[in-house]
Amino acid sequence: MLELNIQSKEHDEARQGEALLLKNDLLINNSRKLYIESYGCQMNFADSEIVASILFDHGFETTGTFNDADVIFINTCSIRENAEQRVRKRLTDFKTAKSQNPGMIIGVLGCMAERLKSKFLDEEKLVDLVVGPDAYRDLPNLIGKVEEGSREVNVLLSREETYADISPVRLNSNGITAFISIMRGCDNMCSFCVVPFTRGRERSRSAESIVKEARDLFEAGYREVTLLGQNVDSYKYKADDKEDGAVISFADLLAMVADVDPLLRVRFSTSHPKDLTDDVLYTIAKYSNICNSIHLPVQSGSSRVLDLMNRTYTREWYIDRINAIRKIVPNCGISTDIISGFCTETEQDHEDTLSIIDLVQFDYAYMFTYSERPGTLAAKRFEDDVPEETKKRRLTEIVNKQRSYSLKRLESQVGKTHKVLIEGFSKRSDQDFCGRNDQNAMVVFPVVDSYKIGDYVTVIGETCTSATLIGKIIE
Ligand code: 5AD
Ligand code: SF4
Repeated sequence: MLELNIQSKEHDEARQGEALLLKNDLLINNSRKLYIESYGCQMNFADSEIVASILFDHGFETTGTFNDADVIFINTCSIRENAEQRVRKRLTDFKTAKSQNPGMIIGVLGCMAERLKSKFLDEEKLVDLVVGPDAYRDLPNLIGKVEEGSREVNVLLSREETYADISPVRLNSNGITAFISIMRGCDNMCSFCVVPFTRGRERSRSAESIVKEARDLFEAGYREVTLLGQNVDSYKYKADDKEDGAVISFADLLAMVADVDPLLRVRFSTSHPKDLTDDVLYTIAKYSNICNSIHLPVQSGSSRVLDLMNRTYTREWYIDRINAIRKIVPNCGISTDIISGFCTETEQDHEDTLSIIDLVQFDYAYMFTYSERPGTLAAKRFEDDVPEETKKRRLTEIVNKQRSYSLKRLESQVGKTHKVLIEGFSKRSDQDFCGRNDQNAMVVFPVVDSYKIGDYVTVIGETCTSATLIGKIIE
């Protein structure tokens, strides 16, 4: 299946499966080795950090090479079919490693666990352990049982688990930017989406534990946190000890995290058009350390298709939210997700999607062809009737159009100054730094010795590609 996005290469790589290497000198006393590979969304990467933390407390350290590992975990994503194929291929690689080292334990974690447990465990005998996203606290116990010779499964979903008290071990970290999960699950039931089934009901993590995690990160030298949830705008938390019944909303939470320190940048993802409130926009506008960047998946520009997708908003509603963003946060970066070829999509529906791209002029987009997922509302109710070639042709048209706007948006940043947090060296050259501006554009600029990773610098944009702004430090 053709699947494209034209976000920057750095971001691309972050979303793909990669070996996670722990950089924490404290761990050398731990004796058993964990190798963990993560696929899919940022939430999955954040979950791997929770898993590492739980196992760290039980005598594990991590390794970057799976051949050395005592335990190999693959943290899976179910969102599109090709993700499943990739995982199956990796599991066969791991099985080969296990044939050299029979004591090795191989486990599947995350979103594929529930659906593929019997296939991976019993039919194909590819793995020893299958554990769903709400059962990670049970991992040490399950690993113990596998060591005694059994195969183990725990895919129970929970209405309460938020791992609030677990301090994630940062994996593959640059020491500057980190994810903080603020909620789990999703109650939205978009008809194409498997997440409500794989990750269960929506629940919000305690605001105090989120603020504490942000503060601890800041004190450890981190300078940016991204608050993660499937639908951050529906965050709500009522502390048990609060008698006045006050509920903390997402806008309140954003302000609380931003108040940790003006030097801590705050980002968040993902927003839902039906829930994005003006309150949140005013909070972004009020705090200079809350980044002017919103990821607002549109999915389709046709109200008819949006209705079938059960997105619960129309094209007009979406445009109204965009207008609110432009009014309240004038220089806001806006990104989106788009699906081409959803069930019954006509050429006119597709034209509506192209025209909403023209209208909004997104900074960047993740663009996909529709992939029917078993168990979803769409799989039960509608026929996946748009031919594969049509889906791909429409996707190519969407991608080409979006690419021209990505370039146009970055070109409009050339000649302007940007506050950039230096995140590291550019992938291409250690003579260049890279970091993102307020709007989430990747900026690359030559190293100046008086500045280091973690500093904020002012960069003037000099030129650009469709994914990167190139410039130089002016202070
Ligand atoms: N087919 C294609 N794309 C999908 N997404 C979610 N489910 C599917 C599916 N079945 C996309 C949506 C969502 C993003 C994370 O993945 O655009 O916003
Ligand atoms: Fe899936 Fe919709 Fe929930 Fe996003 S909001 S996770 S697309 S059900």
